[in-house]
Amino acid sequence: MTQASFAVPTEPLSKDEAQQWQTWARGISPGQLQWLSGYLTGIQHSSAQLLELIRDLPALAPAEAAVTDKPKVTVLFGSKTGNGKQIAGQLQAQLADAGFEVALQDMNRYKPADLEKEQTAILIVSTHGEGDPPPSAEDLHAFLHSRKAPQLPNLRFAVLALGDRSYASFCQTGKEFDQRLEALGGKRLAARIDADVDYQDAADSWIADILNILQQNISQKTNLPQPALHVRAAARNGKTAESFNRKRPYQAEVLDKVLLNGRGSAKKTYHAELSLGDSGLTYQPGDTLGIYADNDPALVSALTADLGLNAEKQVTAAGKDYPLNEWLTGHAELTTVSGVFLQNYRKLASDKGFASIADGLSQILDAKDRTSAFTYGKDVWDVFRAFPIPVTEQELTGMLLPVQPRLYSIASALSAYPGEVHVTVGKVTYAHNDRLRTGLVSGFIADQLQAGGKARVFIDQNESFRLPESGDLPVIMVGPGTGVAPFRAFLQERQETGARGKNWLFFGDQHFSTDFLYQLEWQRFLKDGVLTRLNTAFSRDTRQKVYVQHRMQEHAATLYEWLEEGARFYVCGDAKRMAKDVKQTLIGIIAEQAGVENEKAAEYVKELIRDGRYMEDVY
Ligand SMILES: Cc1cc2nc3c(=O)[nH]c(=O)nc-3n(C[C@H](O)[C@H](O)[C@H](O)COP(=O)(O)OP(=O)(O)OC[C@H]3O[C@@H](n4cnc5c(N)ncnc54)[C@H](O)[C@@H]3O)c2cc1C
Ligand SMILES: Cc1cc2nc3c(=O)[nH]c(=O)nc-3n(C[C@H](O)[C@H](O)[C@H](O)COP(=O)(O)O)c2cc1C
Repeated sequence: MTQASFAVPTEPLSKDEAQQWQTWARGISPGQLQWLSGYLTGIQHSSAQLLELIRDLPALAPAEAAVTDKPKVTVLFGSKTGNGKQIAGQLQAQLADAGFEVALQDMNRYKPADLEKEQTAILIVSTHGEGDPPPSAEDLHAFLHSRKAPQLPNLRFAVLALGDRSYASFCQTGKEFDQRLEALGGKRLAARIDADVDYQDAADSWIADILNILQQNISQKTNLPQPALHVRAAARNGKTAESFNRKRPYQAEVLDKVLLNGRGSAKKTYHAELSLGDSGLTYQPGDTLGIYADNDPALVSALTADLGLNAEKQVTAAGKDYPLNEWLTGHAELTTVSGVFLQNYRKLASDKGFASIADGLSQILDAKDRTSAFTYGKDVWDVFRAFPIPVTEQELTGMLLPVQPRLYSIASALSAYPGEVHVTVGKVTYAHNDRLRTGLVSGFIADQLQAGGKARVFIDQNESFRLPESGDLPVIMVGPGTGVAPFRAFLQERQETGARGKNWLFFGDQHFSTDFLYQLEWQRFLKDGVLTRLNTAFSRDTRQKVYVQHRMQEHAATLYEWLEEGARFYVCGDAKRMAKDVKQTLIGIIAEQAGVENEKAAEYVKELIRDGRYMEDVY
């Protein structure tokens, strides 16, 4: 490598300063010089002479420059509805701007054994189900928790966990990745961030921190000055860029509401049509609609009376003052119990000297399964009854979490219903501890929402539940109960776009006569040739219960044929049992039809998931 030779500049550097630069610049590597040149250009603080000084140096061989000093960072994301993927893209862009060599990878596509070779890995992962990894992170998560997991003494890592505080296990998957990587010998670059549903601000500042830390690490290693941060404005996707969003819902007018079940049904499933008016909101088939509702004033007065509180007393929440009952009705999560609320409760019990109550709560909180089992079916009032402690109006306010919207799969396609959004909502109602309960939002839709009324809504994109781009590909849809909602949108879209691919729907519910949701519409789709096959399973019409997975089994050969033709496979609805049974049945069908072991068939399904051909929207 030839040495740098350049004229010593005079102004504005003194002769001494210029000589120092000259001596220093001769001693550094081409890679360092290239990096420094980017740094100086980037911050635009340097004088013309300094830039000239760099430019006058001999040209660097590009290959050499590329390999020498560009630190490599791997960004891994495990995302289901697209939030984590968007943050990962943002991080990648900013790291690349700052001169890092970045490998952006979906965990789905990442070879777990490669972790051993990584030096710096940044993980962004959400939590789904009941504290479970999103499907795309399942394999990496399982591998790291298996005996096969290697020691990772050379790995530096950081985790951004995405979640929703209202679930029993907040950010569980991110926590597990973070703890496991540490247990395997990895060094944490930065403390984990647990980001709630309004994650963007937390993500922006986490990205800035990560960049800072990585850049400091380089400058410590090389003794080079630290480059300035070019923190880009977040490249937000539609989730946050809309004028109306989760933080600022749109007041949508209800155009129509119809009960879909016939007389005598055990269920109440409503079809609601809302106008998007001039909101500018748009969506794609597969997206969900977020809906907010106020708490039942009867629950608020029963709770405050039982706790001996003054419902009119002023309380402060998030910097604002409200009468207690107003805050409880419009702003507090009351009908569900989350792990974070239980932690707040435990802390208050402990601070007030109720040690045995704090211990009892610790036992519930110590295991994910115990937390879910305890919280299922309970509301906030149940917790006060089970663990009575005296609280003030302000203490209650400080402990509760903000009310969350509920999500509903959109049941319409904008191409078929411009300016409208339709949902299919099953009313949640059950008895627990001798009290009849109604779900917050499904109860609001069922009992209060009428045509002409309004609901506060926003669109939540779901990138992992999309029709194939090619209209020629076959589509298999399994959607019992309200799970059928997005498939109404899919079929409308396939019809409107003139897609020629085959469409197969498996639908199930309790009774043919009362619960065949949207029966006439499916028949019309069949008649129009949009729906190629329809198979139904009405579980309570026969002595032996029949479910959608039984119908799949009955048509195993054709189903396998469709898959081999490149079909996309979609499952929507109940996560606890149905989605698991459907997947198991599909594995069995593949094993039987392809004449392979179950393990091989399970690998086939995994490959479908990795290729985005097996998609779930389950809850
Ligand atoms: C992506 C996604 C898509 C969804 N799509 C739809 C859809 O298309 N249609 C639809 O109807 N729902 C859908 N849901 C579910 C929906 O978001 C709500 O969870 C549901 O309507 C209940 O909300 P709620 O406010 O009425 O009840 P909440 O006030 O949230 O109460 C629900 C709680 O009640 C308890 N509970 C419920 N049933 C029972 C029972 N039988 N016994 C004891 N306890 C019980 C449980 O603790 C449960 O957590 C979807 C959910 C997700 C995440
Ligand atoms: C069906 C469903 C289940 C969820 N379960 C949990 C959970 O158990 N714990 C949690 O913290 N968040 C949970 N969440 C919230 C998601 O983690 C959160 O929306 C996150 O931003 C999603 O990120 P992603 O789009 O990258 O997957 C759940 C969300 C959905 C839709």
